[in-house]
Amino acid sequence: MDDPAFSPEVDETTQLILLHASNHDLPALKPLLRVQGNATVQDPETGYTPLHAAIAACSYASSCEEADMEKAKATVQELFMGGAIWNDLDTSDETPGCMAWRLGRKELYQLCVEAGVRAEMLLGIMGGYEELDSEDEEEEEQGEEAEVNTETQPNGDSSGEVIIQAERKDVNSEDYLKSKLKFEDDKLLDADDNGVMMTWETDIMRRSVGLLLPDLKPGARILNIGFGMGIIDRMFRETKPLSHHIVEAHPAVLQKLFSPVSDFGSTWQSSAPACGKYVIHAGKWQDIVPKLLEEGEVYDAIYFDTFGEDYSQLKLFFSEYVVGLMDPEGRFGFFNGLGADRRVCYDVYCKVAELDLCDAGMDVNWTDVEVGTLGGDGEGEWKGVRRRYWTLDKYRLPVCTFLG
Ligand SMILES: C[S@@+](CC[C@H](N)C(=O)[O-])C[C@H]1O[C@@H](n2cnc3c(N)ncnc32)[C@H](O)[C@@H]1O
Repeated sequence: MDDPAFSPEVDETTQLILLHASNHDLPALKPLLRVQGNATVQDPETGYTPLHAAIAACSYASSCEEADMEKAKATVQELFMGGAIWNDLDTSDETPGCMAWRLGRKELYQLCVEAGVRAEMLLGIMGGYEELDSEDEEEEEQGEEAEVNTETQPNGDSSGEVIIQAERKDVNSEDYLKSKLKFEDDKLLDADDNGVMMTWETDIMRRSVGLLLPDLKPGARILNIGFGMGIIDRMFRETKPLSHHIVEAHPAVLQKLFSPVSDFGSTWQSSAPACGKYVIHAGKWQDIVPKLLEEGEVYDAIYFDTFGEDYSQLKLFFSEYVVGLMDPEGRFGFFNGLGADRRVCYDVYCKVAELDLCDAGMDVNWTDVEVGTLGGDGEGEWKGVRRRYWTLDKYRLPVCTFLG
């Protein structure tokens, strides 16, 4: 195999690149970075890329040595210019950005976030967000060498295909919508034990409702995409809306919703005020929402929280539909879980979403919500759940309004 990560010896060039990166020795490093692929070499033992090496060196640099930090920043910038990948993982499963955060090197962390945003925006323009392979999948894919695309983009940035794990997601939409679901008291799981929805998110849902409907004002027109456990819909229902439209696609969730014991059955539907409507739309939002738009429906609060879909679908929803469906004074929110298993990915995607929302004519107001202490892998909340999709201490809650 040609990949140095799999070769028994480190070749001399790799050694030199990592050494110069670690010494923040730009004059020595620059000529080497002219060769394509050199910015993404990896040490076979540590998995360090030149970015990891440049950042790791700052763990022992004294914090008061400003000149050293300036050299470190210049090195990191040069590496990005030379095609370094912002989210390559070392053998401890750490990205350069997460390493910078752990070492308290905020400026270096910020450079990694900025590079990630540039790479993701470019990838979006080129028409594809891809997902980070889960650890399980990596194990299954024996023999496949690397999980990143080392191609250098025309602007000099590399765009790794590690990209962002979509919210609570480890599956694709088509498979998910065909899969069997497990309904438990504190969670909804798919057939592979991926968490579709979990009750630890209740506070996030409550804060979302409070911010989407200030003062929980009755008489609002509400659209919610994705019923899940019905946590947010029960909260919306309590506000006594004028209309409440729910879009849900999974047959098992729909079966529950339409069962005789459902609390969203005919009693709820017929309790809508005279000029309002309480309704469940069965089907994918991609099929339902264009019809709502055609019918001239308008909402004061729109919430989007699906499962098994990637960022491109969220972007499609807000850029193509929210614009036509939301009242000029309305508010739009979504479950902001993209990349939440790695800090740097989360920060990159918050920024990417903010830029795309701005492009769609919306302003975002972020509110930090403390997530509280959740269990480790397979513990506490995550017992019986295949993958811990949330590892961060804060949730950034977005509330979007039309610009101007
Ligand atoms: C994370 S859950 C929603 C949780 C909800 N916010 C709550 O408070 O319980 C996602 C839901 O979206 C549904 N869903 C997934 N893809 C969908 C699609 N394309 N259209 C409509 N619903 C979808 C799933 O079946 C699931 O019920």
